Amino acid sequence: MEIPEEEEDETLLFYLVYCSREAIPFDELGINQLVALAQRNNERSNITGWLVYSCGIFFQWLEGNRHDVQRLMLAIVADPRHDNIVVLSEEEEVRERLFSKWHMELVLPADIRAVLADAIGDSEDPKCVRSLRLLLEHLDSKALAADTTS
Ligand SMILES: Cc1cc2nc3c(=O)[nH]c(=O)nc-3n(C[C@H](O)[C@H](O)[C@H](O)COP(=O)(O)O)c2cc1C
Repeated sequence: MEIPEEEEDETLLFYLVYCSREAIPFDELGINQLVALAQRNNERSNITGWLVYSCGIFFQWLEGNRHDVQRLMLAIVADPRHDNIVVLSEEEEVRERLFSKWHMELVLPADIRAVLADAIGDSEDPKCVRSLRLLLEHLDSKALAADTTS
């Protein structure tokens, strides 16, 4: 189903980013099944975003109506397949969607920097750009810390 044009305009939007650790080992099939279910459900509630999975760690961006995202987050937090859930950032603002075409996209860890940089390039909304830059700085500081400890 195509997202209606007017939905892509600026509107009151809630976004949440969290990371967590798998509680049971996921293989490729398990991840693909999880993403397929997420895409079906998120399309119904008009939630968009992406999921990164690497070395047993999940990193997910969810954006949509506050009520819908928080309801989904309750289900995600109660999901026994992962634990150690840490919300990194959540905010409600009037702005455009950043990932309006993705009801849930599995993004490779190696591509996450490019996904954030592309979204900065595509966005004309200073609030979006600020949130994305924060995430990029967070990634870069982690990469720097990993370099200096190795
Ligand atoms: C890391 C992780 C991310 C998830 N992301 C989503 C999601 O974006 N959308 C979704 O509907 N379910 C997601 N789930 C699954 C939910 O926890 C829950 O199992 C699902 O929403 C239940 O859907 P159902 O009522 O259709 O069975 C995720 C689970 C995990 C472990």
